[in-house]
Amino acid sequence: MKTVFVTRSLPVDAAALAPRGVRVVTGAHERPLSAEEIASGAAFAEGLVPQLTESIDRALMERLPALRVIANYAVGVDNVDLRAAQERGIVVCNTPDVLTEATAELAFALLLALARRVREGERMVRTGAYTGWSPSLLLGRELSGATLGLFGFGRIGQAVARRAAAFGMRVLYTARRETGHEEAAERVCARRVPFESLLLESDAISIHAPLETTTRHVFGPAAFRAMKPGALLVNTARGALVDEEALVAALRSGRLGGAGLDVFEHEPAVHPGLLDRDDVVLLPHVGSATRQTREAMARLALENCFAVLEGRPPRSPVF
Ligand code: DGY
Repeated sequence: MKTVFVTRSLPVDAAALAPRGVRVVTGAHERPLSAEEIASGAAFAEGLVPQLTESIDRALMERLPALRVIANYAVGVDNVDLRAAQERGIVVCNTPDVLTEATAELAFALLLALARRVREGERMVRTGAYTGWSPSLLLGRELSGATLGLFGFGRIGQAVARRAAAFGMRVLYTARRETGHEEAAERVCARRVPFESLLLESDAISIHAPLETTTRHVFGPAAFRAMKPGALLVNTARGALVDEEALVAALRSGRLGGAGLDVFEHEPAVHPGLLDRDDVVLLPHVGSATRQTREAMARLALENCFAVLEGRPPRSPVF
């Protein structure tokens, strides 16, 4: 009998989905597990299904000698030491595609909320500060005709681009890969530009790139100085792509017009300088949080895990 250790319960019946000869053991706590807890829960497991909030590093892998597959319950894999896994012959899988539309919708919700000052308006009504229609009340900006810059043009970036095109926005993007996105770009009239031009020309920038050594703090003091004055920033990818200290400084100076954040540099902590600002919209990392997406992520993560244990190719291996 092979064992899969799922660190926390998933929104599907994991045990019922397991093939013959595989048993699923689920962690006993509804919170991120510590390395110690994973090491003991998965001590004899061939498969591990962790959450993005759990760090699966080299030291932990060394304590899991039977481990053959890590099927992350997320598309981002910055919580897994990929090199250590590769060296140990452990397959790493993630959950792309199934969360694309949900995440793109949330990025767009943040963009709209910032542009049309939804947070301020909502509070005004709830607190009784709304005293009647006025020609100059809460004037915002129109997305139509504005330029959206996408930092990253993978599946989610492209899904945001489709929404932007439908809103009449001009779309610019940066992409790490030289080729492979031309067709998707052409469909929405998006133009690939260097990072400097993205900063300079965009009225709003939305981040859709993975967190890696090269992308950590890519939005720092220099990027904020180079951005169009008053531009908006949306982040639904990973918090540490943005230097939060520099972001707060850019907002305070008025250089940046607002920020919509679903992810934070030191999650779940939020920089105190962001908390009381009207030009900031904050969400608790819910980009993929729709019922159907979370269920699809769970099915995909488990399917990846079971496939490797049965000697079949997984649907979405990272390498
Ligand atoms: C991911 O999958 O990486 C998201 O951040 C959580 O859904």
